[in-house]
Amino acid sequence: MKIVFIGGGNMGRAMLSAILSEGLAAPQDIMVSDKNKEILKQLKQDFDVYITEENIEAVSRGDIVVLAVKPQNIDNVMAELKGRFNSGQLVLSIIAGRSIATLKQGLGYKTIIRAMPNTPAQIGMGMTVWTATEEITEKQRASVGSILKAMGRELYVTDEQYIDMATAISGSGPAYVFLFMQSLIDAAVDMGLPPDAARQLVLQTAAGSVEYAARSDKELAQLRQMVTSPGGTTAEALKIFEKDKFPELVKQAVAAAYKRAKELRS
Ligand SMILES: NC(=O)c1ccc[n+]([C@@H]2O[C@H](COP(=O)([O-])OP(=O)(O)OC[C@H]3O[C@@H](n4cnc5c(N)ncnc54)[C@H](OP(=O)(O)O)[C@@H]3O)[C@@H](O)[C@H]2O)c1
Repeated sequence: MKIVFIGGGNMGRAMLSAILSEGLAAPQDIMVSDKNKEILKQLKQDFDVYITEENIEAVSRGDIVVLAVKPQNIDNVMAELKGRFNSGQLVLSIIAGRSIATLKQGLGYKTIIRAMPNTPAQIGMGMTVWTATEEITEKQRASVGSILKAMGRELYVTDEQYIDMATAISGSGPAYVFLFMQSLIDAAVDMGLPPDAARQLVLQTAAGSVEYAARSDKELAQLRQMVTSPGGTTAEALKIFEKDKFPELVKQAVAAAYKRAKELRS
């Protein structure tokens, strides 16, 4: 399986690294095209893959062509690549907000997968939600599924609107989690804990809670109740979260992200 990347920045690199470490392709089966010479040089040095600055040259060499440029660059890329695809090739786009209809029209090609990964993909702990056009064969779907699995978990959806919803949850989600964690660190430091200790406590509490929830067969509400003795410290803290309508605030934030995802979709 020959894989080509148009764009070898953060996400392209994460995907490439996952593919190689899972042994899904060998370095000689991968080519990266990028406008940034430094990025290319580093990829060559780190992974010994083929590199080029010519998108058109790259596309002719891939069974799977991954589009991993920023949204503001995709229109130029599509104009350059329109009509350059041959049957049997598959386009895998991770560009936020670009619909399958836009990609089909812009590329003049129909065999397309649209995926929404998130940043933990960079350490193989990502969550990717993806969908495909009906032209995709079972074999192609399986290949892409294994590539996305190499970056963490993947979820295939049949309805493209779930991708916009996923953007507001798993795509933006790491930022929500980081915000909550930073707020907890700041509160710990305000209370008097040394910053290093505060960071360690918060990171391990978050990691442990996530793993505990994932391994447990109990609902999240039940796990929360298990930490909360009546009249105890947790109950006091939760009262404040409830009073200030924390769940409602989260809903509003997600609704705003979803609204923006729909506004940005083209
Ligand atoms: N980061 C995330 O959490 C996340 C999550 C989901 C989806 N995505 C999507 O992933 C895509 C890539 O994001 P990223 O963070 O990896 O971006 P990035 O680090 O900026 O990488 C994009 C690369 O493409 C290069 N490039 C620009 N124009 C090009 C062109 N015409 N032909 C070839 N290469 C070109 C850029 O070079 P220059 O630096 O010289 O411009 C850069 O090296 C985005 O569309 C984003 O929506 C990202």
